[in-house]
Amino acid sequence: MATLWGHLFVWIGLWHILQVRGIAKFTNVQCFAVDEKFANFSRCRLYAVKRDVVEMSLIAKVLHWPKRPVSMRIQLLKRASGYKPFLYNICQSDLCEYLEKRNHPFVNIIFNSFTNRTNVNRCPLPAEIMLEHFRFPVKALELLPLPSGDYALFITFSFDSQERALVKVYFTLTEYR
Ligand SMILES: *[C@@H]1O[C@H](CO)[C@@H](O)[C@H](O)[C@H]1NC(C)=O
Ligand SMILES: *[C@@H]1O[C@H](CO)[C@@H](O)[C@H](O)[C@H]1NC(C)=O
Repeated sequence: MATLWGHLFVWIGLWHILQVRGIAKFTNVQCFAVDEKFANFSRCRLYAVKRDVVEMSLIAKVLHWPKRPVSMRIQLLKRASGYKPFLYNICQSDLCEYLEKRNHPFVNIIFNSFTNRTNVNRCPLPAEIMLEHFRFPVKALELLPLPSGDYALFITFSFDSQERALVKVYFTLTEYR
């Protein structure tokens, strides 16, 4: 009998742990068409779908894709009296080459998480790039466990050593196990 109760309590405990899922959601998104001849953004916003569920939609028009490689920098930042660099600051010198090879673990986690929600696959990219109804990819946290906190992900596209377009995505993780 004692062991039966013991098992039961272990089960209840386990069930409770599995149920206690934190909140992981986007809190803001900002898009900057630094070089308006390169690209512009006709949509860059979040939609509150229901309590604690937020979707992101972006639409960017690529006006002129250069002959030179377009590089992409991905920076993760965590808030601690201002946003400070945290764990990742990665530069892929050629976005098209990356899309072909998919050879960076951290960048893969990000790109794989929105495969279903975007028309970005490989080069040449469509003239209108979209990311639609994208919810925070909680599964990505299994591959990339992050402590609770407020985060930002800055994605910068450059060529000829000049920043051309920048997307800043902010998100918050609360008690996510
Ligand atoms: C983006 O650029 C295109 C072509 O110049 C223009 O037709 C469109 O209105 C621009 N969109 C925005 C949101 O600025
Ligand atoms: C893509 O969408 C399909 C159908 O909605 C779903 O079964 C699949 O798990 C999704 N894949 C990813 C990587 O989200």
